[in-house]
Amino acid sequence: MAINLFQLSCFTALALARAVGNTNGNDDFRSGVIEDNKLRGVFMANISIGNPLVPQLLSLHTGSNLLWTRFFPCTKSFWCDSSQNCKFYSRYVDGTTAAGVIATEKLTFETSDEGTTSVSDIVFGCANEFSSVVPEGQSNGIVGLGNGELSLATQMDSKFSYCIGRLNAPHNHLILGDGAKVEGPSTPVEFFNGLYHLKLDGITLGDKKLAIDPIIFRRTPSGNRGVIIDSGTPFIFLPRSAFEPLSSEVQRLMDNALLPRVDRLGFPTPCFKGAIDRDLSGFPIVSFNFAGGVDLSLDAKSMFFEDVPNQFCMAVIPAAYVW
Ligand SMILES: *[C@@H]1O[C@H](CO)[C@@H](O)[C@H](O)[C@H]1NC(C)=O
Repeated sequence: MAINLFQLSCFTALALARAVGNTNGNDDFRSGVIEDNKLRGVFMANISIGNPLVPQLLSLHTGSNLLWTRFFPCTKSFWCDSSQNCKFYSRYVDGTTAAGVIATEKLTFETSDEGTTSVSDIVFGCANEFSSVVPEGQSNGIVGLGNGELSLATQMDSKFSYCIGRLNAPHNHLILGDGAKVEGPSTPVEFFNGLYHLKLDGITLGDKKLAIDPIIFRRTPSGNRGVIIDSGTPFIFLPRSAFEPLSSEVQRLMDNALLPRVDRLGFPTPCFKGAIDRDLSGFPIVSFNFAGGVDLSLDAKSMFFEDVPNQFCMAVIPAAYVW
């Protein structure tokens, strides 16, 4: 999730971004999606910018809006030159920041028949200043897919889908524009402040529904609380009053399986001794129950991560808010 600040002189960029319909009726804009090999669980789209094409690996963020990259030579394409100071500054919830100049360029995508297709005048950021905590992943930047006016999704007819299956398979794709279709059961999505809010009703482990009052997941009219979908982080963040029942149920199951707790300094989430493949084969499916009867069902490999041998941790973190 990000906070974006723009200087007022950017009004032209904003006006251009508002003029959606960039895709001119075409509906076949795709880019390959791969997993960041340094930040596991973060996905990157391969999108080419400019002419000649410069392929960029950009982290997919449904929880922020601006597309920015740090390795594009923007000197040619600034239509807001430095005297006009059309600058951006983005701050993400993990504390990282990026700042630079707003520009426009042509973006090139793949088509379903293995050709390419381009869209002109996409507004994006050329980043040249970063916080001391520079993101350590493999990507060159971020592609914001939120619902805000500068988002790539908004600039391309406000429709997109992404499909992530087996991570080493070549079929993972981001599809932008009208070609993005929703199939199968769905849950309502509410747009608020450029973000996608979902209605989470509860959490179940196997057959056991955790005792959580769903009111804690509801967004207040002023925008506090609420549940958003943010592909920019591999973790699920839960308020304390949902995190505690989940983590004590997990602790109980680990105690039954005789897997001892490991305390890792500075880790906000419980870790245990053991290997996911070997020791968690009988672990129940954890389902996040959304409105409309749609469940996000996670097996042990999705609920836990194993970053050091014979130790695994829950991929759920207590949200740093006061509830
Ligand atoms: C990104 O796309 C370009 C152009 O299609 C291709 O040459 C390059 O290999 C791709 N990079 C990755 C990491 O898939």
